[in-house]
Amino acid sequence: MTDFDVYNPTPAQRLIVPLDVPSLDEARSIIETLDDDVHFYKLGFQLLYQGGFDLVSELKAAGKQVFIDLKLLDIDNTVKSGVESLLKYEATFLTVHAYPHAMRAAFEGRGKSDLKLLGVTVMTNLDDAMLKEAGYGERAGPLVLKRSLQAKQAGMDGIVCSAAEASAIRETLGPDIILVTPGIRPLSSNADDQKRIMTPRMAIENGSHYLVVGRPILKAENKRQAAREIISEIEQALN
Ligand code: C5P
Repeated sequence: MTDFDVYNPTPAQRLIVPLDVPSLDEARSIIETLDDDVHFYKLGFQLLYQGGFDLVSELKAAGKQVFIDLKLLDIDNTVKSGVESLLKYEATFLTVHAYPHAMRAAFEGRGKSDLKLLGVTVMTNLDDAMLKEAGYGERAGPLVLKRSLQAKQAGMDGIVCSAAEASAIRETLGPDIILVTPGIRPLSSNADDQKRIMTPRMAIENGSHYLVVGRPILKAENKRQAAREIISEIEQALN
């Protein structure tokens, strides 16, 4: 098993594959196919709400890193106890909506464990008009930076952001914050429904630490080869 240091991952450990598939069997088959090329998996609502926590335990037993993407938000006591309940899965990352009170509660719940908390500032599918419709008085850009700062103050270890926002966030928050970016597309693949996409190289150059890449791998004819090509692009961008 390769060692893992969340602040100093290898190029391969920087790739996070989201298991966005409808069944645990399908997820297991993808994990088997990707084998030792992929070290890090993200599980979200789709699998966790149908027994996916068993898979989290299997991945941990196999020496993989796990990102639990549940984007927590509730009253403080519920967020805190929810985080406490999740500690037994020994995930590397857990997401919390970047509301200051929720992040502080999650930080308390995390206690002295190794779990790293990631703040989700403004969902990247929201534009200014949608934020206004939801009652916000601020535009997406400034709100992302404001919430990123609040995330750091609340003790979050990192931020989920688009690679386009990564350099501004890094400038505001300094080098210690972990930046995890979805919306990544190698030049050869489709944009799917992602609007502001970046290549793996651009994301790394903009200061992202971890890249979440789903469909370009999950829908590839040769998934393992697709993952290898992304890892090799990450490696080249780091040199
Ligand atoms: O298939 P694709 O590479 O677009 O998958 C991206 C993953 O990252 C999905 O699991 C999606 O839910 C997640 N994500 C995202 N944009 C965000 C936050 C998370 O695409 N702002």
